[in-house]
Amino acid sequence: MINVTPVSDVMGAEITEINLANPISLDLKVVLQKALLKYQVLVIRKQNLTPDLQVKFSSIWGKLETPSNIEYTTKESSKVMILSNEINPDGSAVGVVDGGDFWHSDSSHIEIPSMVTILQSIKNPEKGGDTEFCNMVEVYNSLPETLKIKIENLYGIHHVSKVKNKRVTISPDRPGAKDFYESQAKTRPSVLQPLVLKHPETGQKSLYCSPRFTIGIKGMTEDEADPILERLFAPITDRNRPYHYRHKYKNNDLVLWDNRCVCHRAVGGYGLPDIRRMHRTVIAGTGAYNLQQTSPTQ
Ligand SMILES: [Fe+2]
Repeated sequence: MINVTPVSDVMGAEITEINLANPISLDLKVVLQKALLKYQVLVIRKQNLTPDLQVKFSSIWGKLETPSNIEYTTKESSKVMILSNEINPDGSAVGVVDGGDFWHSDSSHIEIPSMVTILQSIKNPEKGGDTEFCNMVEVYNSLPETLKIKIENLYGIHHVSKVKNKRVTISPDRPGAKDFYESQAKTRPSVLQPLVLKHPETGQKSLYCSPRFTIGIKGMTEDEADPILERLFAPITDRNRPYHYRHKYKNNDLVLWDNRCVCHRAVGGYGLPDIRRMHRTVIAGTGAYNLQQTSPTQ
């Protein structure tokens, strides 16, 4: 029988006594799915899955996204993205250098954002490399009723480019990053997402916006939107981390989270020769939240 133990008072559970390399029964699948809905973040220790097995495990949550950058996927599976700071002998990067240092929910800048993200820790640095998570249901619950009413039917404007966002900075360590974000600013559209997202499975409301991707509010000037956004971001970035869980990886940890109710950020704090390598799979969302939220049938 598997063990599910909460890792903090506000979110996250650790699962032990499980080997995901074995076939996953329907019962186990249901237990894992329910655990993710309840705890939002799952930490499954000691797995060591091959890329193919990681894909197989991931697919219990739905259809996998295909990473846009095929160059940094594993040889075994094009669905598994390598996140790493390693450099090949020829000077090329082994994988995507994981940014994610500002609070965000994965892919909220596209029409149908990522649903679940799964990271398997292959190699951890001696120091740093943690991921912080924020429970966005609790963040929503913490807001004053007047603010909840005010944002109930508002839409955040999300954009992927950092040059469109005054709340983030571009790392000087990334060669060509400024050109990259400037090109994105011209070619990628803004996307509207509801500020209050009703979870399609649990029905719980959460705050769905982030300092990394939310750059404005539909129908408001910057001066009108800014104080609201600052107030909404405050509990996420609160130095006391009241609604948060910080995960320190061990090798072979498999960590997954529900992007519909969780924001996260990479803490960083490591560098070569210390290596961090993760294998990431992502489950695609099943529909656009803005359509779900505004449909007259719901
Ligand atoms: Fe992320």
